[in-house]
Formats: sequence, C-alpha cells, structure tokens
Amino acid sequence: MGKNIVLIGFMGTGKSTIGQRLARKLGMIFVDTDREIEKITGMTVAEIFRKHGEKRFRSEEKLLAHKLAQREGLIISCGGGMPLDPENMKVLGENGVIIGLKASPEDVFRRVMRKRHHRPLIDRELTLERLRAMMAEREKYYQCAHITVDTSTHGIEELVHKIILNLKEFCYGKG
Ligand code: S3P
Repeated sequence: MGKNIVLIGFMGTGKSTIGQRLARKLGMIFVDTDREIEKITGMTVAEIFRKHGEKRFRSEEKLLAHKLAQREGLIISCGGGMPLDPENMKVLGENGVIIGLKASPEDVFRRVMRKRHHRPLIDRELTLERLRAMMAEREKYYQCAHITVDTSTHGIEELVHKIILNLKEFCYGKG
C-alpha cells in the first residue's frame, strides 16, 4: 500500500493503540505525531505547552504534517488537535486515507483521566459534562475523515479487522 493511513479523532479514542496494531498487520511504519514532535524538539508535549504555549505546538504539528505527507506507507496517528488546521488535513489527505476514530464521552473520560499528566488540555478538574462540550466543539473538525469507526463498541482485534475491510472497500470504490 503506497498511500498513508491517517488516524484522527479526539484524545482517548484509541488512535495510537489501533495505529500500532494496524501497522503490524499491514506491514507499514507507525508514526505518532506527538512522539515525533517530542523527538524533534527534545521536549515533551506538556513541556512545549508550558514553556512555549499551544501556538508553538500547533506550528510544530503543521511542519510535521507537511513533512509526513511527502512520505509513503505510513500509519500516522495524529494528535487530537491536528485537524484544527484544515491545511494539515488537506496535505495529509492528498497522500493518505483519513480514518476518524470516535468513542463515547464516558470511554474518553476514563481513558484521558488515566493519562492526564501527559495531556496539557486535560486538568484534574475536568468533568464529564465539560468533556462532552469539548468533544461537541471538536466534532466538526473530524468530519473530514473518509472513514469513521466507533471504538467504544468493539474490541481491538475486531476494530482493526473492520478498518481493514473499510479501507479495501474505500480503495476499490475509488477504482
Ligand atoms: C491534543 C491532543 C494530544 C496532544 C496535545 C493536544 C488536542 O494528543 O497532541 O495534548 O488538542 O486534542 P492525543 O490525541 O494523542 O492525546
């Protein structure tokens, strides 16, 4: 498969877990944009936000989106905010199939609270209600996905299988 597979979705929807599994199954290279930005800058995502602000992080994301779009055969797990800039999705989509992952607010809440120290946009005061509002606000940005899969309803193996079937259908459908 020459084209990249680009995973987008709100924090805690399973992009990294599913991406790694997909990469192994399809023999593709897995790239997580947050980890890549950490390697490039030598800082954690939380440090970038704290020391330089969200704007700096978004500009690192944009640079990386352009860089990764030049490559092939990648499974790209995007940080949840990557689609906030439509240009990122335009370049990544030109050379990739975009898969949107979604999950119930309850599942996302459980997942993000577990790793909240790594996520500067999540604080200890977060409530399910506030999370629901954040997710609703973000929804429009994830609509650019070519395929959308709900990760709350199936186990990981089943989801990976479902995504592969969807990908085949999507690619054949385009002739
Ligand atoms: C963000 C999501 C995070 C990370 C950063 C900002 C967001 O990635 O890029 O904390 O704006 O939604 P994950 O979706 O992998 O948690």
